[in-house]
Amino acid sequence: MRITVVSEAPKKFEPEILCRFYEGGRGYHKRQHRGRLPQPPEHTPFVTNAEHNRLALRFYLDEYKSYEADEARRVAGGVSARELHRVSATKLAWYLSGGVSVDKFSQLVTGALLASYRFDQYKSRLRPHPEPRLTIIAGSNLREFRAELRRLQAIDAGLCTARDLANTPAGDLAPLDLAERARQLAKAEGLSFRSLSAAQLQRGGYIGLTSVGRGSAHPPVMFTLTHTPPRVRKGAKPLCLVGKGLCFDAGGINLKPWDGMWDMKADMGGAAVVIGAMQAIARLKLPVRVVGVIAAAENLPDGKAYLPGDVLRFRNGRTVEIQNTDAEGRLVLADALLYAQRTLKQKRIVDFATLTGACARALGSVYIGLLSRSPQLKADVFDAANGSGELAWELPLHPEYRELLKSTIADVRNIGGPLAGAQTAGWFLHEFIEDGTEFVHLDVAGTFVAKKRGKYWSQPGMTGSGTRLAVALAELCATR
Ligand code: BES
Ligand code: ZN
Ligand code: ZN
Repeated sequence: MRITVVSEAPKKFEPEILCRFYEGGRGYHKRQHRGRLPQPPEHTPFVTNAEHNRLALRFYLDEYKSYEADEARRVAGGVSARELHRVSATKLAWYLSGGVSVDKFSQLVTGALLASYRFDQYKSRLRPHPEPRLTIIAGSNLREFRAELRRLQAIDAGLCTARDLANTPAGDLAPLDLAERARQLAKAEGLSFRSLSAAQLQRGGYIGLTSVGRGSAHPPVMFTLTHTPPRVRKGAKPLCLVGKGLCFDAGGINLKPWDGMWDMKADMGGAAVVIGAMQAIARLKLPVRVVGVIAAAENLPDGKAYLPGDVLRFRNGRTVEIQNTDAEGRLVLADALLYAQRTLKQKRIVDFATLTGACARALGSVYIGLLSRSPQLKADVFDAANGSGELAWELPLHPEYRELLKSTIADVRNIGGPLAGAQTAGWFLHEFIEDGTEFVHLDVAGTFVAKKRGKYWSQPGMTGSGTRLAVALAELCATR
């Protein structure tokens, strides 16, 4: 969507839809219409009428009963963009009343950008559709609004990259393809790129990634994207983002049931988040060093695949008994965490992973699951979450959950039994966190996919959940 911010409507101005946003409810309008209001469809508590023969939408933000005020603005911004698409129009105008703060502007625009994303490169009979245009008539505050718009567009570029990658079928995106896409992006955005081939991983003792990837004809790979600003702001805290990059997770020898297995093309959703966030961070030129680490593989059943009962010895000496080959994400993450700490000397690490069905069952698609034992970094992640509109909720890492990982023949096993699955996965990752490292684990298994259109998802598909949070966190690390 092309967006321009102007102070007043241009002379020859013919938008097809006009929008106004009101903080209150519809009571005022109901009286005017003597109670005869058109019934809004789902997620669209607005009033329609015509102004100068154009469709005019009035959004009453109080009517979005399920959302907090900031989210109501994002939803309203998104609905206005979706309406444009629904009526096959391309010219949208927003009239913002005086006194709209930059924060509120930001929330409305974020929703419009989120809702204008489409993934239709696999549709062969697509009507060519000119790029939609949004003109925001803002009155005053132009300079701040335009600067904020540029910031939001940088974040949106990263978010679209994340969603494109996650939506791409596994048949077209094997681990090396993902690495190649990241390498090209790094070149275009001024990030540095490095990768470890399967042979290097083998030699380096990255047993988790090597074992998980062994059942596939497509070799695993680990790669990094690094943002090194010309000048680092004094006091800025370096940040490391780690992503689970399972380009497909069939479960391995512990094969998953067929139902919904196709979603596992996006078991690299965490990796997509890290790549997208790194793109946005580069575009924003944040004055802080950020490195993204991705461990990519395919988890498939095969004669060469790793087996239940196998014991893996990791680079930090920990031995792990494999009791379920479908709990593979934690194994590739363990290697990425060791690489980040030992080789890259990272001390503040946040990982993004579609890690457990248990987290999805606990929190649904509303909250990202957060597991951590690092109070300061955890507080920063919550701040970033609140500002970005992506919600995170903590699941407890009580020491008693750790007991569930006990193995009879190795240090730990890779599953913790039927209960508290997100917590045992969190504890497993902590086996690979060394003294002095701050660490937050974010489980996006409940939020990585939208099963139907709604809120600001214009079509079902991958959401890029975590990208906005990751960029907000990097912004915060650059200023604190
Ligand atoms: N990638 C899955 C988790 C997942 C499931 C993400 C559904 C998104 C939607 C992960 O690798 C997995 O299979 N986890 C198992 C772990 C279990 C075997 C301990 C799970 O959650 O069932
Ligand atoms: Zn799995
Ligand atoms: Zn997985």
